[in-house]
Amino acid sequence: MHIFEDCKSDTNTNSDPQIAQFDDFEHAGKTPNIASACLGSGSYAVVYRERHIRTGEEVALKVPNRAFPNATFDDEIRLLIALPHPHIVPVLYHSAPGERAFIAFPVLGSIQGVGRTALPGILMDVAQAIDYIHGRTTVHCDVKEENVLVDDGHRGLLGDFGIARRAQKAIDYDKDILDLANMVTRLTLRLSLKHAMETTAELSAVLYPRRPGDLTSAEQFIDGYFRFLDSL
Ligand SMILES: Nc1ncnc2c1ncn2[C@@H]1O[C@H](COP(=O)(O)OP(=O)(O)OP(=O)(O)O)[C@@H](O)[C@H]1O
Ligand SMILES: [Mg+2]
Repeated sequence: MHIFEDCKSDTNTNSDPQIAQFDDFEHAGKTPNIASACLGSGSYAVVYRERHIRTGEEVALKVPNRAFPNATFDDEIRLLIALPHPHIVPVLYHSAPGERAFIAFPVLGSIQGVGRTALPGILMDVAQAIDYIHGRTTVHCDVKEENVLVDDGHRGLLGDFGIARRAQKAIDYDKDILDLANMVTRLTLRLSLKHAMETTAELSAVLYPRRPGDLTSAEQFIDGYFRFLDSL
């Protein structure tokens, strides 16, 4: 059986994002630094586990670092809500432009703990998200393990559109595919999937383009990569 034959169907739907206020969440502005509430952090933001007071929903609240301009964060909000996709992290609530900035997402897991059975399907999900944004002339620019989240049903979701932007030329898309390829290689190496890197020369034929702009779609890449591993 081919590795993707039992992939989950894309039944996950994006919720309708709603404008909210920072004070609509428990802890917001009060004790946001308590360690148990911190789900993660990156160069631009911290993500806290918080609760939407009115609905009681638990959310992952992404708040930009103080040094990070709110206008740039507003761009991330605009971009994310314009790109609804079953494999892009859905926005539940977001701040209004000019207000104290945040985005509330569902609380999700990390790709780091995922085992070898679930990994190919999750990577295919992420590849579909990348192809979807590329089809809308957008490049993510930061495809890496930390920016891939996983839900309870083992679906992969691409997150962190903090530095995503409009593609200027065809070659811009290649960076996302190469970042995906590098991420896949690191993850499969970690799981020792079929001695992933033993035949580096053959693998690089799948990974790297003959000419700039020559790369396959993300989905074709992931499919080719696992077919290649299957054949070893
Ligand atoms: N919905 C979520 N559920 C659980 N944890 C999350 C969620 N969203 C983000 N995180 C965690 O918070 C971290 C930082 O979030 P994010 O990548 O969006 O911030 P960033 O500052 O833009 O990161 P980067 O340095 O990659 O630009 C993620 O790597 C992840 O560990
Ligand atoms: Mg990140």
